[in-house]
Amino acid sequence: MRKKIVAGNWKMNNDLNEGLKLTSEIVGMVNDEVTDDVSVVIAAPFIHLTKVGDMLRGSDKLFLAAQNCSEHASGAFTGEISAPMLKSIQTDYVIIGHSERREYFKETNAQLGKKVDILLNHQLRPIFCCGESLEVREAETHVEFVCQQLTESLFHLEAESFKDVVLAYEPIWAIGTGRTASAQQAQDMHAAIRNHIANKFGQEIADNLTILYGGSCKPGNAPELFSQPDVDGGLIGGASLKSRDFVDIVKSY
Ligand code: PGA
Repeated sequence: MRKKIVAGNWKMNNDLNEGLKLTSEIVGMVNDEVTDDVSVVIAAPFIHLTKVGDMLRGSDKLFLAAQNCSEHASGAFTGEISAPMLKSIQTDYVIIGHSERREYFKETNAQLGKKVDILLNHQLRPIFCCGESLEVREAETHVEFVCQQLTESLFHLEAESFKDVVLAYEPIWAIGTGRTASAQQAQDMHAAIRNHIANKFGQEIADNLTILYGGSCKPGNAPELFSQPDVDGGLIGGASLKSRDFVDIVKSY
């Protein structure tokens, strides 16, 4: 059975006190209310990670994620955070290749491939983001575009290490816009992604791969999105900043 994951991506929001308050509310609600077999991941800003991680430990449902990491292990890269550093504070997952990083920080498919490598080498699990712009969607080349992102960043991996990768399909036109992909659009793309992975790594790995949907996911639309056969959870931005909304999304399964 595929692992179900709902991950909250706080992006650059919340100071430390606000982040710890939000974490405390989420931990309480998850412990009291979440009975299903769902992994709940919190992707907090770097400076929050140690303290947020301390609050998550002790629950087998809650996991800690970073939002990025360097493709280098150490050295003269002022301002960067490395995979070994994240491992040393018991981070579980790291979001890689979010469209905001691709767009504002010019991250390329080749560079993201290196980030995935260094994470896997340090037993950290990448949540690898892919997704097309509105322009690409309107040109109806979205399947080719997303498959190319996956090919260029992930197809050098061994099948064995691919087992630790989680994918997140996030159409850029749906991120923070209030415009969600329809459940059918999400399902169609997730099925195409799974098929692309099966062609390279085999059906068994593709069948076990967790593929999250992200983009204006809310308590109101999560049940329909999550009921699609190839949608295995969500990567939640705006709605993850409100504990009630986030946990209601988690409970949509
Ligand atoms: P959103 O963001 O839920 O605010 O659309 C999703 C994401 O960027 O991961």
